[in-house]
This record gives sequence, C-alpha cells and structure tokens, in this order.
Amino acid sequence: MLKRVITYGTYDVLHYGHINLLKRAKALGDYLIVALSSDEFNEIKNKKSYYNYDQRKLLLESLRYVDLVIPENNWEQKIDDIKKYQADIFVMGDDWKGKFDFLKDYCEVVYLPRTPNVSSTQTKQYLKSSF
Ligand code: CTP
Repeated sequence: MLKRVITYGTYDVLHYGHINLLKRAKALGDYLIVALSSDEFNEIKNKKSYYNYDQRKLLLESLRYVDLVIPENNWEQKIDDIKKYQADIFVMGDDWKGKFDFLKDYCEVVYLPRTPNVSSTQTKQYLKSSF
C-alpha cells in the first residue's frame, strides 16, 4: 500500500537544507505532502517571508520529492490533515524534536537531523548585509 508522508514548514528562499529534509522525508515513503505556511500564518508566527505563498508553493511543486503542497493556516490543523490525507508518517527537522509527539496517536512521528550551517534566516541576513 502507498505510504504517505507529511511535513510542515515555511520554506522561504529554498536552500539545500530544505532539499535534504524533503529528500529524506520522501525516502521514508512513496508520496510526500508538504503543508506550507500561508502568509497569514507566517504573520501569526511573527515570520516574514521574502517569497510569498504562491512563489514558495511554485518552487516546492517543481521538486521531484514533493507530490502535493497544501496550505498550513494554523497550529491545530495537523490531526485533521493526517486523517484527511491518510498520512502514515509525520516528519519534521529535529529543531522540533519532541514538540509533535502527541501526533503519535495518529501516525508515526519522525524527526530528521537538520543540515548544519544553513537556514532561510541566515540566507536573508547574508543577502541583506551584502548588497
Ligand atoms: N530544515 C533542515 N535543515 C536546515 C533548515 C531547515 O532540515 N538547515 C528543515 C526544518 O527542520 C523543517 C523544514 O526544513 O523541517 C522547513 O524549515 P523552515 O523553518 O522553513 O526553514 P529554516 O531554514 O529553518 O527557516 P528559518 O531560518 O526561518 O527558521
């Protein structure tokens, strides 16, 4: 049976740390769903992305590891998403380790090691200071 994996994030200024995460997430199953933070949800999280939702979605949809992009609009939707999309595995980088263990009632929960020395924030800070 098709194994479905779901993961969440903002994925602004897409970088190789994101690709590493998505590649390993996809390798855990057959079908990868990315729930992508909407611009409104980013505001709630006090995050300002450089690329807007449609631009970030376009980038993610062009990746071979990603099968479906859905919006993430709030913190509470995860259980509903897991049920609706029949996710078998929930994946996040280990900066979130332990934070989503409550989802173990609904599917497998896997935290993957983050790729060191790269982040959207760091990239944006570097670009800001360089031009
Ligand atoms: N991620 C990763 N390795 C990195 C950066 C991110 O594995 N170096 C993972 C995160 O753990 C998460 C996903 O990529 O599962 C999306 O992360 P996101 O928060 O959008 O990216 P960051 O680069 O961490 O963004 P920010 O600097 O805004 O926190």
